[in-house]
Amino acid sequence: MTYKVAPSVLAADFTKLDEQVKCAEKGGADWLHLDIMDGHFVPNMTFGPMIVSVINKMSDLHLDVHLMIDNPDSYLEDFVDAGADSLTVHYEAVVHLNRTINHIKSLGIEAGVAINPSTPTDSLKEIISDADLVLVMSVNAGFGGQKFIESSYRKLSEVRSMIPKGRAIHVEVDGGVTPENAGRLVECGANVLVAGTSIFKAPDIVAAISRMKSAKEF
Ligand code: DX5
Ligand code: ZN
Repeated sequence: MTYKVAPSVLAADFTKLDEQVKCAEKGGADWLHLDIMDGHFVPNMTFGPMIVSVINKMSDLHLDVHLMIDNPDSYLEDFVDAGADSLTVHYEAVVHLNRTINHIKSLGIEAGVAINPSTPTDSLKEIISDADLVLVMSVNAGFGGQKFIESSYRKLSEVRSMIPKGRAIHVEVDGGVTPENAGRLVECGANVLVAGTSIFKAPDIVAAISRMKSAKEF
């Protein structure tokens, strides 16, 4: 199965972000993953649409924007205007998920649903056929550099088996992803691997992405 690697710039050195984004491109990154945190939905804050638009000027890569925020409906247009190519909202943060997912799609970009480690995959049953992407969080959302939660392998397989025939829905995994577990993640059904620490904190960003891209399936 072919898969995409989406470096998470959360772990990048923002004093030389342009250079690090160029390294990600050189290493063969397929997407860039941008983590938006509001200090409410998750106990951390990052950046908003202004920085997304700066990164959009640095790179032509698909910008995969992960909204870890309450009330994402109020900000969807802002992130689309900033250059998001996909917008993922959390199942746990949205009341009218069908409306939100269809709103994102009506703005002309891909719509994703993320589930936290404690949220069962069954929760996706009524929304999966509307989504373009499902993100399985393999750490508790909020911080980079955490340990991968092992039950995520099973959850990825469950999500993959829920996808209706003929629908090309991305299955993304985010948190604690490394070149060492990448092969098993792909085998379990992930086709987008998000990785922050194992790429941007590596001694050689280009080499780290190349390793992630050439992970062997088990
Ligand atoms: C965590 C974020 C992740 C984070 C992953 O809440 O959603 O995208 O950047 O970082 P690593 O790869 O360091 O676990
Ligand atoms: Zn993320």
